[in-house]
Amino acid sequence: MAERFRAMVIDDEGGKPVGAFRELTLTDLPDHDVLVEVHFSTLNYKDGLAVTGKGRIARRLPMVGGVDLSGIVVESRSPDWKPGDKVVVNGWGLSETEWGGYSRFQRLKPEWLTRLPEAFTLEESMAVGTAGYTAALAVQALEAWGTITGDSREVLVTGAAGGVGSVAIKLLARRGYTVTASTGRPETHDYLSALGAKNFIDRSSLSEKGGALQKERWAGAIDSVGSTTLANVLAQTVQGGAVAACGLAGGADLPATVMPHILRGVALLGIDSVMASHERHDKAWALLAESLDRQQLARMTRHEPLSRLPELAQDIVAGKVRGRVVFDISQ
Ligand SMILES: NC(=O)c1ccc[n+]([C@@H]2O[C@H](COP(=O)([O-])OP(=O)(O)OC[C@H]3O[C@@H](n4cnc5c(N)ncnc54)[C@H](OP(=O)(O)O)[C@@H]3O)[C@@H](O)[C@H]2O)c1
Repeated sequence: MAERFRAMVIDDEGGKPVGAFRELTLTDLPDHDVLVEVHFSTLNYKDGLAVTGKGRIARRLPMVGGVDLSGIVVESRSPDWKPGDKVVVNGWGLSETEWGGYSRFQRLKPEWLTRLPEAFTLEESMAVGTAGYTAALAVQALEAWGTITGDSREVLVTGAAGGVGSVAIKLLARRGYTVTASTGRPETHDYLSALGAKNFIDRSSLSEKGGALQKERWAGAIDSVGSTTLANVLAQTVQGGAVAACGLAGGADLPATVMPHILRGVALLGIDSVMASHERHDKAWALLAESLDRQQLARMTRHEPLSRLPELAQDIVAGKVRGRVVFDISQ
């Protein structure tokens, strides 16, 4: 086992939490029961905010960043895990309150670990990552609500070319829904069509303040953008439809009225990937195994050495990353 290893540590720099690479040893790691050798991690919007310091994600410092990790158990004081087990961790406060996946080794609580789903390799599980897992939770929330099934009405995905958006489009298309993609990057239309998007709208058409009730169009929607975009999506959702709200890439505010909810029965379904129960977690991974084609997953994913994290963190916050990024933690 390496005595010293590299990790991305968020720490105070001039009153601001910013990420930088540091060398750690095993004794620096938290005293949790399972030691995992991390093989892969990934880049989510939240990771971008944490590493660049553009968002206060870490709630205590120093904090090892990385919302997600996949790897192999090296030591375990828990009867549930033994050396050699392949595991995945999404959420559970990693990079917020608990040290995360941007480290060659990490010690974790046994209950945060999930056995690697058979359908995926360690690498593919990080191509899915929190973004893909969140997309699956959102699809399940819409299906449970019940109004996107049974006809050819449209389901809208905003922030379409991003991580959550890309996986959401693939999952929805594979499950037979007619998907409309809202993106600010017309150059991604071919990519989004290949994932299964049938129609496109420019994201600027949703970013200006609109009426409280607009022409009904979306049977359901998965929104990564928030703010005025989410308000307009709610105002354009059909009678009885639902919007799964995942993100805030366009802002954390919600300048909306209650009109879509009280006159059209539109539901706003909140999606929280961090503290989703084990049952919901397992169901989401089962949906991913069933509906996410591995070749398509590979096409929406790029592989990068961890050394490129600082640069890519800037890019994802600027909305410049397409699809998913996997980091090989050994590089
Ligand atoms: N609820 C949860 O548990 C959970 C889990 C994962 C992620 N999230 C949130 O979901 C959001 C998406 O995450 P991600 O990892 O998919 O990020 P991402 O890869 O950066 O995707 C976000 C996309 O939103 C669009 N966008 C960016 N800035 C925008 C702006 N100012 N106005 C309108 N659209 C904008 C861009 O899509 P186009 O270029 O196609 O327009 C961008 O690709 C983030 O806010 C993240 O924090 C929440």
